[in-house]
Amino acid sequence: MPLPGRGQLCKNEEKRNLSLGGHVGFDSLPDQLVSKSVTQGFSFNILCVGETGIGKSTLMNTLFNTTFETEEASHYENAVRLRPRTYDLQESNVHLKLTIVDAVGFGDQINKDESYRPVVDYIDTQFENYLQEELKIRRSLFNYHDTRIHVCLYFITPTGHSLKSLDLVTMKKLDSKVNIIPIIAKADTISKSELHKFKIKIMSELVSNGVQIYQFPTDDEAVAEINSVMNAHLPFAVVGSTEEVKVGNKLVRARQYPWGVVQVENESHCDFVKLREMLIRVNMEDLREQTHTRHYELYRRCKLEEMGFKDTDPDSQPFSLQETYETKRKEFLGELQKKEEEMRQMFVNKVKETESELKEKERELHEKFEHLKRIHQEEKRKVEEKRRELEEEMNAFNRRKLAVETLQSQSLQATSQQPLKKDKDKKKSRASWW
Ligand code: GTP
Ligand code: MG
Repeated sequence: MPLPGRGQLCKNEEKRNLSLGGHVGFDSLPDQLVSKSVTQGFSFNILCVGETGIGKSTLMNTLFNTTFETEEASHYENAVRLRPRTYDLQESNVHLKLTIVDAVGFGDQINKDESYRPVVDYIDTQFENYLQEELKIRRSLFNYHDTRIHVCLYFITPTGHSLKSLDLVTMKKLDSKVNIIPIIAKADTISKSELHKFKIKIMSELVSNGVQIYQFPTDDEAVAEINSVMNAHLPFAVVGSTEEVKVGNKLVRARQYPWGVVQVENESHCDFVKLREMLIRVNMEDLREQTHTRHYELYRRCKLEEMGFKDTDPDSQPFSLQETYETKRKEFLGELQKKEEEMRQMFVNKVKETESELKEKERELHEKFEHLKRIHQEEKRKVEEKRRELEEEMNAFNRRKLAVETLQSQSLQATSQQPLKKDKDKKKSRASWW
């Protein structure tokens, strides 16, 4: 009997439950998965968005119980700048590649209209890098350093008043791209009753502005209860400190004030423990998964659609990648041909235009030349005439000069002969007297 085709098998398939006669061993699959993941290591990327000096670095140090390199940001940044730093952490035999990205200079510019943009661009760039890796022919997703942001801790200034428009705009722009957990920073600076009202106000503002924040998942029975309780506590009001203070006979992380001590890990003082539980101990994997299945998926879908890929044709029939590629290729070649033709036409027109311009120039030059030639001839004629006149004048002058010279010489001769005659006459008269 011929074997049914793959599609046929799926359609006609009826699942039958069979019991096993003995131990086969596939119950070790979850352990295999765990062991593989442990060997591979994990990556987790946190984006901290909040005003300069709001307590981002202190909270990160407190959360991971270590001292990450910190560098105070200045309040004079021209624009918001994203600064990622990656650390290799190890707890038991689990390796975690942790990237903390700081939005440096957030909220410091006079015009804050575009403050969200570098943050959005950074998140998109990480998605794009992952997509490019996925689209490569030789992919190496296995050891690819995934830099996609898994969670955005949005630090709210503890004004006790309401959210700023910068907060609302930024969270609205980010909510479809990243899991946002809003937190009220420096919660020790606000009284308990004010904090309660502030939390309610923040949540109602987020809802009325349609900002989707990350909800701890309640579909997994094991964590459904704690997660739904914690969802009601959002936004977490946290206090950070790396300072250790002696309370009773124990050293605890706290902030010490003249009037008392605020203990970071005391749940009646702040929500730090709740944040750590939710972020690291209970939902880290869900945050990673949501990033991949929701946010990255959305980015990938939009990007591929933008590139012209679709799953179905206009008749709602499945459209294969090959067909999309062929159609796109044809479209591209057609477009290219059109462009080529346009360019050729443009070139021909340009040549014609230049040719007629050159001809016009040549004609103008010729006219100019003829004109100059005429002027030159006229000038030459005038000069010639002048020369002739001058020559005539010179001849006349020479003639006159000659005549004058002749006259002069004649008169000279005449005057030189006269005294001689007088002498002779004198001599003659004297002789006759004697
Ligand atoms: P930049 O990176 O320079 O933007 O600052 P940051 O947001 O990383 O703040 P950072 O952690 O450097 O803290 C700034 C100041 O706030 C320090 O003096 C901290 O001690 C103080 N600080 C941090 N967390 C808290 C807190 O929970 N409560 C109070 N009252 N002060 C805090
Ligand atoms: Mg800092």
